[in-house]
Amino acid sequence: HNHLDHATPQMVHDAIRTGDVHPHIPEYEPLDAYRAAGGYDTLLSLRADGDWQAVQADLLDAGVRGLGGAGFPAGRKWGFVRAEPGPRYLAVNGDEGEPGTFKDRYYLERTPHLFLEGMLIAAWAVEADRIFLYMRDEYPAVLEILRREIAALEAAGLAAPGYIDLRRGAGAYICGEESAMIESIEGKRGIPRHRPPYVAQVGVFGRPTLVHNVETLHWVARVCREGPGVLADHAHNDRKGLRSYSVSGRVARPGVYLLYAGSTIRDIIAAAGGMAEGHTLKAYQPGGPSAGLLPAHLDDVPLDFDTLQPHGSFVGSAAVVVLSDKDSVREAALNMLRFFEDESCGQCTPCRVGCEKAVKLMEADRWDADLLEDLCQVMTDASICGLGQAAPNPIRLTLKHFPDEV
Ligand code: NAI
Ligand code: SF4
Repeated sequence: HNHLDHATPQMVHDAIRTGDVHPHIPEYEPLDAYRAAGGYDTLLSLRADGDWQAVQADLLDAGVRGLGGAGFPAGRKWGFVRAEPGPRYLAVNGDEGEPGTFKDRYYLERTPHLFLEGMLIAAWAVEADRIFLYMRDEYPAVLEILRREIAALEAAGLAAPGYIDLRRGAGAYICGEESAMIESIEGKRGIPRHRPPYVAQVGVFGRPTLVHNVETLHWVARVCREGPGVLADHAHNDRKGLRSYSVSGRVARPGVYLLYAGSTIRDIIAAAGGMAEGHTLKAYQPGGPSAGLLPAHLDDVPLDFDTLQPHGSFVGSAAVVVLSDKDSVREAALNMLRFFEDESCGQCTPCRVGCEKAVKLMEADRWDADLLEDLCQVMTDASICGLGQAAPNPIRLTLKHFPDEV
């Protein structure tokens, strides 16, 4: 699918540098088809005489939460940003870097305008002067779709030329942390800032900034068009709403599955066609490596925000990776820590040195549980951002549930 298949390394390098790469573009719904089905009618009517607080109330009723992984109520963020004086900005986090997470890409490669309309609605709601759309560079097809469709929006008069500023990330996991992303947007090295102040108060170029994940905005558009019931009418295991699980590992049909927010690992594996042939469930990652690995016997826990704290884990961006009796949990946990060691921005010692020490301790024949637990405590207590604070989770959960392996 790529004219660079037979290119020299220098040609590939030049093409990437100049953006002259032609990825395979999947079939997606372009602007004319989306508009023919009523797309952007909601945005136009809101712009004409909408009440942002009524939309905010709908989001809160629907239970729209931050789907980058933190689950913060989306409508509440609008209130924080609106309370600050302008100019205000919207920054969209499309730097989907959590290992196992591919739901944003799934939606962007199929229905990009649901996301783009949600983005323009959020920008309208907080009266954003400009939108910074920070997109993962490893998604070349998504970038090309966005370039085309943003140009189409400008040509159709739905967005002023230059209002949506599409920025390419550069492959750093830490640039998905919202304040590191903002540093990167400002042209600096992407390292997290201290909180407070929150980005709602001091964000891009020091201005109040609304930060939303791609899928969150997809649901903003759907709630505005279809009403809060599109999420709120679904209930399962005492949980409300729907969740897009990215499912991979030892299942028959890996993919993105839109299921009840209260789904258990059993429900998710069933949706993915069951376990792959010859494999028995041993462990699963419920939400990215920072959520660690849970054992097969915890197969009746709803995988939703707020339900996994008692088990020392969280659902995050719902990146579910299924491991089987053929896999080593010890190796998987070590792989996670190696990832954090590589991706630590290096700004603070507990994370920079802690990840490196943890990897060394985990490479030993026998894990020194006391020393590892001591190290985990320091990293959680003293790291600046979520990367270093959550990196110990795979260690803690492996020590707790799979002591025989380590
Ligand atoms: P967080 O809970 O600290 O913040 C969530 C959001 O709410 C942020 O936008 C923050 O600014 C806002 N917020 C929270 N309290 C606020 C207050 N009092 N006033 C104003 N705004 C407030 O979580 P964080 O660190 O942003 O995200 C962590 C999550 O990111 C993890 O749960 C992990 O699952 C996920 N993650 C997702 C990745 C992906 O590729 N989708 C990659 C890595 C992590
Ligand atoms: Fe950087 Fe790690 Fe510190 Fe976060 S915790 S600021 S990634 S060194």
